[in-house]
Amino acid sequence: MDEIAIGIIGFGTIGSGVVHILKENRAILEARTGFGIKLKRIADLDIESDRGVVFDKSILTRDAYDVLRDPEISVVIELMGGYEPARTFIIEALRNGKSVVTANKALLAEHGLEIFDIAAENSADIAFEAAVAGGIPILRSFREGLIANKFDKILAILNGTCNFILSEMTENPGAAFKEVLKNAQELGYAEADPTLDIEGMDSAHKLALVLALTHGIHASVKTIHVEGITQIEPFDLVMAREFSYKIKLLALIIRHGERVEVRLHPTMLPESHPLAQVDGVFNGIYLRGDMVGEQLFYGRGAGREPTASAVIGDVIELIRSKRIGTSGRVPPLGYSGSLMSDDSVMDMNEVVTNYYIRIQAADRPGVLSRIAGIMADHNISIHSVVQKRRDHSGAGAVPVVFITHSAREADLQSARQEIGNLDVVDAPPTIIRIEDEDLD
Ligand code: HSE
Repeated sequence: MDEIAIGIIGFGTIGSGVVHILKENRAILEARTGFGIKLKRIADLDIESDRGVVFDKSILTRDAYDVLRDPEISVVIELMGGYEPARTFIIEALRNGKSVVTANKALLAEHGLEIFDIAAENSADIAFEAAVAGGIPILRSFREGLIANKFDKILAILNGTCNFILSEMTENPGAAFKEVLKNAQELGYAEADPTLDIEGMDSAHKLALVLALTHGIHASVKTIHVEGITQIEPFDLVMAREFSYKIKLLALIIRHGERVEVRLHPTMLPESHPLAQVDGVFNGIYLRGDMVGEQLFYGRGAGREPTASAVIGDVIELIRSKRIGTSGRVPPLGYSGSLMSDDSVMDMNEVVTNYYIRIQAADRPGVLSRIAGIMADHNISIHSVVQKRRDHSGAGAVPVVFITHSAREADLQSARQEIGNLDVVDAPPTIIRIEDEDLD
């Protein structure tokens, strides 16, 4: 049986998952592909720590170029993350005619076009299924299985850490964000530095890749409206439940003819929505294709084996192409031309949606009418309002919650600022957008 040599750069959690799968499922992989995979080199600055997997330690090296310049290695797996030196290493691998598999969503979201061009110039392939939604084969589905569809709506939960935190806050009324985050860190569901996850950037990088794959639009994350989950308070989860909603950190791509809304923020979703059932560390992608209708992809978006499963799927795809002497069979982003221009993305201010607005306001005559008056001035129509009673001390502000009819983001933000400036209001209102097709 032929053996194809591969190498890994970056030996962390996913790298050790790759080693584990190659050993554990070697027989089934060989039966399915008809060839063997020889892991020839693993490069990492740390070649001492125990990764909890059994392999021949002599393949470890501290020098990435031992992988990049090895003539026998035909596929390089980049799992170090970050922009540099990952970008330089990937480019070197492609220029040396090697195919590349990476999970590096941040790098591809920002420098993907440059890297894909270099791959094409060198007749090399690059694949990155593990970059979005871990073990769920969503990118291949968009590029191939769903190629016959235009997508009018894609809603996605793309970050397991945030989904775990929001699910825990839902299940345990009163649990504060910081407390739940600490618990998530102890359980290994959140990084020691969770900033990229909880501030939404990890999801935004994935959203940018999904946008390119589904609409052929290349948008820098800097131009996408991104909000994380740090402003969500236990009270919001309690109110969400009262309105029969769940709060999810959602990536949204909503097409209106030639324009498309692209945004990433906490979102209230009806409890009956398929995505509302996606709890804990799981990811979910809900889509509506014009030919297939609704679909939901559900699974583990992070973790050692699920992510390594996606990496191995890519490795085999690329080896199969190499063995028949082809490359570029499917463009990395799934498009050979374009239909929508990159400036089809709507300005956030143009978005029209429903809003949950929480205001901490003095419980005095006339306060509600001043707030409602500002909303009316900005053309915001109130669908419902809930004011919670004061605590027994009788002092302080009370939370007032509004649900709006459809309103323009620009109007909402102007009203938010004006309300925040009122002397009877504690701070600028917290807003959470609602994705509920039954609300007008
Ligand atoms: N940290 C990510 C998550 C996984 O929690 O989903 C890697 O993108």
